[in-house]
Amino acid sequence: MVNASPVTIEIESMRVTDLAQVMEIEYASFTTPWSELSYRQELLFNPNGSYFVARPARADSIEAAPKFFWRKFFSSSSRQIRAAEPVVGYGGFWLVVDEAHISTIAVNPAWRRRGIGARLLIAMIERARALRAETVTLEVRVSNAPAQSLYRKYGFEIAGTRPRYYNDNGEDAFIMTTPRIQTDAYRIRLQHAINILA
Ligand SMILES: CC(C)(COP(=O)(O)OP(=O)(O)OC[C@H]1O[C@@H](n2cnc3c(N)ncnc32)[C@H](O)[C@@H]1OP(=O)(O)O)[C@@H](O)C(=O)NCCC(=O)NCCS
Repeated sequence: MVNASPVTIEIESMRVTDLAQVMEIEYASFTTPWSELSYRQELLFNPNGSYFVARPARADSIEAAPKFFWRKFFSSSSRQIRAAEPVVGYGGFWLVVDEAHISTIAVNPAWRRRGIGARLLIAMIERARALRAETVTLEVRVSNAPAQSLYRKYGFEIAGTRPRYYNDNGEDAFIMTTPRIQTDAYRIRLQHAINILA
């Protein structure tokens, strides 16, 4: 789905019950995917991890979800309808002292270019600010122009390179880092970005 209309998104903490859907997106998004066990361990045993899922708000889910979501999940009770909202993206970070290190972010290929990655990134930066992190950092493949473009929009800049960081093809990683996120200047920049997405 290229340059489709933006979608109203709800961001929630990731739960173990989300992992089946998370893993579908993981396998569709990465050549060296994490295992479900890795995610489970992050959720259950890593006190420094913060993980989120994105779901379309209900009206968007009804309009935009593939038909099988209707058939499989929608029925009369509102509780079941709530449960039917699919996970369309996710992201997470580790807090390491005063630095938030984004460990993963991905959006279902069918839902890309609708502002979901941006929403997830903003949610992570906001949580990192709440946890008193000073900066947010991550590694990204040098060939991954879409992700780099996303990160640049929110102030990340290339701070260095990790040679041959990726095992599958020996590709280098760029280290990308925000300016200090606790400053008023960054808070205003983030708020501006949120207003544009709203
Ligand atoms: C990177 C990723 C999470 C972006 O998710 P998304 O929901 O499509 O992103 P958004 O719609 O919020 O786009 C936000 C911005 O990112 C950039 N961007 C996203 N996709 C892009 C693309 N295909 N080409 C160029 N820029 C792109 C743009 O700057 C875009 O802003 P714009 O729409 O105003 O131009 C998604 O492409 C993905 O899951 N990729 C595979 C996994 C991955 O590479 N994760 C990053 C690992 S470091």
